[in-house]
Amino acid sequence: MKTLHTVAELQSLRADWRARGERVAVVPTMGNLHRGHLALVERAKQLAERVVVTIFVNPLQFGPNEDFGRYPRTLPEDLKALAGLGVDLVYAPPVEEVYVNGFPPATTITVAPLSSQLEGHFRPGFFTGVATVVAILFDSVQPDVAVFGEKDWQQLQIVTRMVADLRMGIAIVGHPTARDDDGLAMSSRNQYLNAEERARAPAVHASLQAVAAGLRAGRRDLESLCDEACAALRQQGFVPQYLEVRTPALDSPIASTRDFVVLVAAVLGTTRLIDNLRVTLD
Ligand code: PAF
Repeated sequence: MKTLHTVAELQSLRADWRARGERVAVVPTMGNLHRGHLALVERAKQLAERVVVTIFVNPLQFGPNEDFGRYPRTLPEDLKALAGLGVDLVYAPPVEEVYVNGFPPATTITVAPLSSQLEGHFRPGFFTGVATVVAILFDSVQPDVAVFGEKDWQQLQIVTRMVADLRMGIAIVGHPTARDDDGLAMSSRNQYLNAEERARAPAVHASLQAVAAGLRAGRRDLESLCDEACAALRQQGFVPQYLEVRTPALDSPIASTRDFVVLVAAVLGTTRLIDNLRVTLD
């Protein structure tokens, strides 16, 4: 497994692979890898001969009061975790290798109107930061396929739409959320929780399951269903930001909808947790 930090070195290796007709799968990450990321790598291995993992804590997707400064940066541990998994290349560029003409970049990508809803409403600029860096990383790696976690469901929809609109010709594959035994979705931000908060954190997944149970029982009073789940979260000390039922493409459900996704963001102490659950009715 090679580790490279410049796009020139990356592209020279990429050219060798292309000359041999080898397909490339990329797993974009911000590092601090956990079991969920490693599952994305395993999936990527099934999809292409070569696997590239990118590790870059992207300043463009953090708001001024967010956790860019304290976001865990653990490259040596990440490289250890990836060793032996069959990854060909870890691309870990510095900021100036990604934003070549200075930071912040003059050119950005916004997938409207999805980027200003749900997560985007509470984190203005977040999805512009994500779409822009993903486009730059795709341009650097030139992958045939890219694997993203379904935990960031809205991000997955936005990247899929960007790739389609800009005719990037990259297959986007979503992979199911990895969870701890008590249902908490794995996230690098879970380590911000203290022991008492960690014990309460599974309430986020439980709130989604409660809404899913309502949908399966035939309830379509979506607003009160979500209000009840938010009330349960508040009882556990959370401040819910949104809890909504949408279609998988993130439109509002209509009477005939049978395939839903329930999405939630809630703050516990100083930690913001997000999660979602797909509900498909027979
Ligand atoms: O999901 C993430 O870790 C990031 O948003 C991504 C896709 C690597 C872009 O920085």
